[in-house]
Amino acid sequence: MTARFEFKLAATDGRARTGAISTPRGQIRTPAFMPVGTAATVKAMLPESVAATGADILLGNTYHLMLRPTAERIAALGGLHKFMNWPGPILTDSGGFQVMSLADLRKLTEEGVAFRSHIDGSRHMLTPERSIEIQALLGSDIVMCFDECPALPATDKAVAESMELSMRWARRSKEAFGERPGHALFGIQQGGVTRELRGASADKLVEIGFDGYAIGGLAVGEGQEAMFGVLDYAPDMLPEGKPRYLMGVGKPDDIVGAVARGVDMMDCVLPSRSGRTGQAWTRRGQVNIKNARHADDPRPLDEDCTCPACRSYSRAYLHHVFRAQEMISGMLLTWHNLHYYQQLMAEMRAAIARGDFGAWQAQFHAQRAEGDI
Ligand code: GUN
Ligand code: ZN
Repeated sequence: MTARFEFKLAATDGRARTGAISTPRGQIRTPAFMPVGTAATVKAMLPESVAATGADILLGNTYHLMLRPTAERIAALGGLHKFMNWPGPILTDSGGFQVMSLADLRKLTEEGVAFRSHIDGSRHMLTPERSIEIQALLGSDIVMCFDECPALPATDKAVAESMELSMRWARRSKEAFGERPGHALFGIQQGGVTRELRGASADKLVEIGFDGYAIGGLAVGEGQEAMFGVLDYAPDMLPEGKPRYLMGVGKPDDIVGAVARGVDMMDCVLPSRSGRTGQAWTRRGQVNIKNARHADDPRPLDEDCTCPACRSYSRAYLHHVFRAQEMISGMLLTWHNLHYYQQLMAEMRAAIARGDFGAWQAQFHAQRAEGDI
């Protein structure tokens, strides 16, 4: 194992890339999907089960953990990895994005964001310096810059001003981070769906210099076509030799389209959240286990899936435990969804390595077009 944070590309196919990030806590195979463990747990999953699905890295959230149980408490207990029993790499989001969507009574200034907790109304302030401090207290392996993402719809002027503020915060984040061997700091490109703003943001981030670069401000309601429109140019604005992380994406077809456009890392609550609401994702698309058509169906969710839900249970059983609101329902469907997502990533990595990504992509879309049967 290396003591350094290092990204090595192994193969490219068109714009798609495969490789690995080495960290002192282990390797992250790319393209990588990061399950979301917001409150120091991937809901309904044991960490060893998350690892068994094939996940190399989890995402944690500054905003939630600073409020409860607090970063200082986690640090005193030995850090987030030990606290949640996940020995592998953890990436933490910086809190800016979550403050804007979850907190009450937000006040945005040059300094940072003052807000009230959505849990108990207590007052807090997040700045680039405080966000980086919290992420260090947590022991995060990949630390994200503190940024701001304007709520849509926003005017061009508002998007430009927000991006410029995020770039000033990126510089402050870098200064606050300092030098931490084995840990990485990622910048976050903003600029909405405007090419010039995306370019200016990328130039500023590259000038400051980061270990990796995220594409932020997407999957915020602009739709897949507009998002792919940005991804047709945004990854190429970022350094080829550093990991590119598309934040908060997405559905399986979003992920495939992003990988095809040169993205290396992604995260999304979708597979875990939708598992708890009875939605399963399979090779053939989305299945709603609530649907009465499953009540007498002895077949597994997906006969080719090797996850515990598909190996040992029928659609009829999954339908029943969902209807009966049994906890095993969320556990099994979350496991299946995370397994499916990781299977997708593994297949893409293999296809890119073979130089066969276009054919793989055509087969992915053909299978989905058949629908659930
Ligand atoms: N998660 C999804 N989008 C974003 C973004 O633009 N910034 C941050 N910090 N997190 C995100
Ligand atoms: Zn399964």
